[in-house]
Amino acid sequence: MKKIGLLTSGGDAPGMNAAIRAVVRTAIYHKLKIVGVRRGYAGLIKGDFLPLNLGSVADIIHRGGTVLRTARSEEFFLPEGRQQAASLMMQEGIEGLVVIGGDGTFRGAIELEKVGIPTIGVPGTIDNDIPCTQFTIGFDTAINTVVDAINKIRDTATSHERIFVIEVMGRHAGFIALSAGLAGGAESVLIPERPFSLDDVVAKIKRGQQRGKLHSIILTAEGASSAIDVAKEIQKISGLDTRVSILGHIQRGGTPTALDRILASRMGAEAVTLLINGKRKLMVGIQDNKIKSFDLEWALSQSNEIDFSEYELAQVLAI
Ligand code: F6P
Repeated sequence: MKKIGLLTSGGDAPGMNAAIRAVVRTAIYHKLKIVGVRRGYAGLIKGDFLPLNLGSVADIIHRGGTVLRTARSEEFFLPEGRQQAASLMMQEGIEGLVVIGGDGTFRGAIELEKVGIPTIGVPGTIDNDIPCTQFTIGFDTAINTVVDAINKIRDTATSHERIFVIEVMGRHAGFIALSAGLAGGAESVLIPERPFSLDDVVAKIKRGQQRGKLHSIILTAEGASSAIDVAKEIQKISGLDTRVSILGHIQRGGTPTALDRILASRMGAEAVTLLINGKRKLMVGIQDNKIKSFDLEWALSQSNEIDFSEYELAQVLAI
């Protein structure tokens, strides 16, 4: 293999740049040429290529977002789009591709394999919703952002003796809500993976008030319920003064944590090593702090379950 390509696709995640840097530098270290593709699969079907060198990835390890830009492309998922992408890559002499993103990105990689392009997926999404890896790039930064927001909201919630319902991202999964709720000491955490009762949430708030608690923080995953609906219902059941905070896209930005940079560096380097060793149609993951790889199609057919012991613990500690 002499030349490989690299793209980021789907929602950006802090640490993607550290992964880009690792892919580029590992490739160059092993004497490969490396080409970036701008705007994910949308750029791939237009041949939006950008030759990369050591300097192209200088000063990016600490930056959020992705210097390659990203997009969600419908066109790529049409057979003509994929064929077009494959022929443009062949013209450019790209013999293998590393894709960084979430499950939509990995589904794109499987399609590329069908048209003959060896592809390796690196999990980059704040949602942590990819099977076969305990952590995805960006998750740690996102939960730290949420915890920071909880700390700040707690100050004003205490001063005003209010209930706050904070909505976090995560798409259909509750990983962000659960981890940030545990780390931030939220009174209740609502996740899509577990049924919940707002009567129970209100009962807990009232118990807290009886023993002098001044505030309550309820964290809801966007996949469980909107914060607005939760707040309306709590107010209706209890008559308590309730406010809403939807954290939104601030969870996707910001300088990546050291953990995310290390994870991104390890995963990015592994992706290139796999291509050099003739491997293809794999995703990189981390389990028990070891970098591993799994067949992409098989990996996506697995479920990625929440650790319910963490959920129980959050409940016990917020008694
Ligand atoms: O997948 C990352 C994510 O931030 C989800 O948590 C969220 O549901 C979605 O992307 C938002 O997407 P967009 O930026 O396209 O609104």
